[in-house]
Amino acid sequence: MSAVFENPSETPFPRHLSVLPDEVLEALAPERGGWFVDCTTGLGGHTEALLRANDAVRVVAIDRDREALGFAERRLAPFAGRVTFVHRDYRELPDVLDELKLPSVAGILADLGVSSWQLDDAERGFSFQRSGALDMRMDRTQMTTAAKLVNGLPERELADVIFEFGEERLSRRIAKRIVEARRVAPIETTAQLAEIVRKCVPVHGKQRIDPATRTFQAIRIAVNRELDELDGFVAACVERLAPGGRLAIISFHSLEDRLIKHAMRREAGMAPEDDTPRSQMDWNLGKRPEPRVTLISRKPVTASEAEQAANPRARSAKMRVCEKIGPVVGRAESGNNREYGKK
Ligand SMILES: C[S@@+](CC[C@H](N)C(=O)[O-])C[C@H]1O[C@@H](n2cnc3c(N)ncnc32)[C@H](O)[C@@H]1O
Repeated sequence: MSAVFENPSETPFPRHLSVLPDEVLEALAPERGGWFVDCTTGLGGHTEALLRANDAVRVVAIDRDREALGFAERRLAPFAGRVTFVHRDYRELPDVLDELKLPSVAGILADLGVSSWQLDDAERGFSFQRSGALDMRMDRTQMTTAAKLVNGLPERELADVIFEFGEERLSRRIAKRIVEARRVAPIETTAQLAEIVRKCVPVHGKQRIDPATRTFQAIRIAVNRELDELDGFVAACVERLAPGGRLAIISFHSLEDRLIKHAMRREAGMAPEDDTPRSQMDWNLGKRPEPRVTLISRKPVTASEAEQAANPRARSAKMRVCEKIGPVVGRAESGNNREYGKK
């Protein structure tokens, strides 16, 4: 039977289908019990799955979006006492675990990016399909909004953001048009920004994706600093896993997946696959990190055809999993060295 985690659909509870539900459970093996961390609780789908899987599971449920945590708290009320909600950035994981006096945990999950309800809610300003104030903050207590970047960044920097985080080859043209438009009046809504971008990008035949998609992704990543310190985050997770404990990270675009792949390979003591002559040189000079994990699979785990048909968001999901090396002591906090895919 599939572990399905759709939230109750009656309004006002928003809707978000958790991706790779069965695969996440298989990766994290909650049947062994202990403390788990859901770094991106969102509406609580994966957290609920972990809690339902075993009464001996407890979860630290982190999200930087206070509103999302509010919904998750409502949803997870039946599990009160087994889940601790924390409104923080997951990059502060070591501090969070120190404050909770948890030296190590049995498993850590991060399901990166934004959830469907954040994207769909016009008021949150992520959507190019529904007009709203140009906001895009996951944490609405932070100061930097999309409007601030779009109206404030110098043209060159704006183009770099759109190129680097959106992989948009027309970045210079788009940045130029944005700067021309904001000279007349500030760009205040998602509809205004989308219109400017659409006018810059020629449409060839029947295009499936909106021409504004890549620019919106880029601005969102910049506003929320989504790629910053991902590398350090992986290292911090590995540090706090008990031997045999598992780390599972789901990403939705190649920029994130590449960073996670490299970070996990480094933790596994593997040669850098990349890239810079510098890292190759360090490797050849013997500056090889001691392996702290084994990779559970070389290739990322992706959604089944059935899941992709039911949940279009799952099409781009890639999950990478690694397991902390070391002698497994006790059951409460540790993993079980089980081979992935084998029951
Ligand atoms: C894809 S959703 C998670 C959905 C969740 N797994 C579920 O099953 O409902 C991603 C969530 O991560 C949160 N998030 C993104 N970056 C974060 C960060 N740096 N720290 C904490 N939460 C973050 C977002 O606010 C969003 O709620």
